[in-house]
Amino acid sequence: MGKAQDCGGLDNEISTMSSTEKISIPTGPYVRHILICADQTKPKCASRESTVVSWNYLKRRLDELNIGSGEGCVYRSKVNCLRVCGKGPIAVVYPEGVWYHSVTPELAERILQEHVLGGKIVEEFVFARNPLSVDI
Ligand code: FES
Repeated sequence: MGKAQDCGGLDNEISTMSSTEKISIPTGPYVRHILICADQTKPKCASRESTVVSWNYLKRRLDELNIGSGEGCVYRSKVNCLRVCGKGPIAVVYPEGVWYHSVTPELAERILQEHVLGGKIVEEFVFARNPLSVDI
């Protein structure tokens, strides 16, 4: 499992492991995890094409901002559906559990600059919140 400590790489890690390999959750020093609905099997919240554009933008910008790996990095995961299925692309940022709608590349940039780097949630695109508990 070569990418366990690499913040960007949760894609396909588990599916490629044999049953004898040790499983380790990437508990590196990440500060946030962004999940975005993209490249869906059944695109409902937005077109597949538009979600892929946002996903690719997010991946590229995390690397360009040098926050895609290393201490204090930001995990990113592409998910098939976040069960909202409207006003997409939909994204959620943990640990705050802030849910964003209409995540175009422009909004993805604002989420990175304002929320992730600046600590200020982009309120006008938030439609729900469910923060993680600290007692895990
Ligand atoms: S298809 Fe995007 S949230 Fe369901």
